[in-house]
Amino acid sequence: MGNRMNGKVCLVTGATSGIGAETARQLARLGATVIVVGRSAEKSAAVVGQIRRQTGNSVVEFMLADLSSQKEIRELAQQFKRKYPRLDVLVNNAGVVMMHRQKSVDDIEMTWAINHLGCFLITNLLLDTLIASAPSRIVNVASALHARAKINFCDLQGKHGYNPLNAYNQSKLANILFTHELARRLDGIGVTVNALHPGSVRTNLIARNGWLFKWIVQPLFNLQAVSVAQGAQTSVYLASSPEVEGVTGKYFGKCQEWRSSPASYDEAAQKHLWQVSAEMAGLKDEG
Ligand SMILES: NC(=O)c1ccc[n+]([C@@H]2O[C@H](COP(=O)([O-])OP(=O)(O)OC[C@H]3O[C@@H](n4cnc5c(N)ncnc54)[C@H](OP(=O)(O)O)[C@@H]3O)[C@@H](O)[C@H]2O)c1
Repeated sequence: MGNRMNGKVCLVTGATSGIGAETARQLARLGATVIVVGRSAEKSAAVVGQIRRQTGNSVVEFMLADLSSQKEIRELAQQFKRKYPRLDVLVNNAGVVMMHRQKSVDDIEMTWAINHLGCFLITNLLLDTLIASAPSRIVNVASALHARAKINFCDLQGKHGYNPLNAYNQSKLANILFTHELARRLDGIGVTVNALHPGSVRTNLIARNGWLFKWIVQPLFNLQAVSVAQGAQTSVYLASSPEVEGVTGKYFGKCQEWRSSPASYDEAAQKHLWQVSAEMAGLKDEG
């Protein structure tokens, strides 16, 4: 076990599978206290047990929240704050591809609810702790597919025609617009926020949509995909490397700064998205 992250508290969402589980494992290997956020107690306990055994790090635990539920996100933030006085790294990694339009308990389209609003809400709720722990870091797992998206402010939730790829790509562009706006709001406070593309990675992201996707589409995708160890590299780099100390408001791939799509630098869209998201998540916009 390394010691670069000794004493640092890291919370990783979507850490029961794929890139998130590997990110949690690598941060644990570097000596961090790691909180795995999952939505199934059984699955989360199994991942935590495995990470503890593999890394020899005993300060790994899980907290439960279905990130499509705003109530559960609020409970997660409260539970975290009751137990931990500090938060050094928040990795917003949980994500879904939904082939069919579904709605969350809050009556919000699922892709938007989990991939964007969940990340927006948990970050905002933990911001005071991150600020009190500065220098601290927020890492948002986006995707290169954001470059194919536009934010459709007239129909964010695909009410008038749902296309799974458009919904996914839009949510990933939202991750980057949010990153840019948050970086501006946190300027000079000592909390950095960056987004990243993990690569095409062998995970279960597409497989969760029924047998066709499990047995045909995901295996075909996986033929050209990299391992989860490679997929987690940029998340771990942004969460822990001294090289990116103080770097904020950027987009990364392969542990290097990349330029995100022109649409992601639209300041008016960044601000408007913040207002709309705050309203949907029941937060006051104090920006
Ligand atoms: N794989 C790729 O090629 C690729 C490329 C670009 C970007 N990404 C991004 O990478 C991130 C991780 O995806 P992955 O590829 O590692 O996929 P994955 O293996 O399917 O992992 C997704 C994680 O998100 C969690 N999650 C899903 N819905 C949730 C909810 N309602 N509440 C709480 N947690 C929830 C899952 O929990 P359960 O285990 O309980 O389902 C799982 O831990 C995503 O943001 C994705 O958009 C992936």
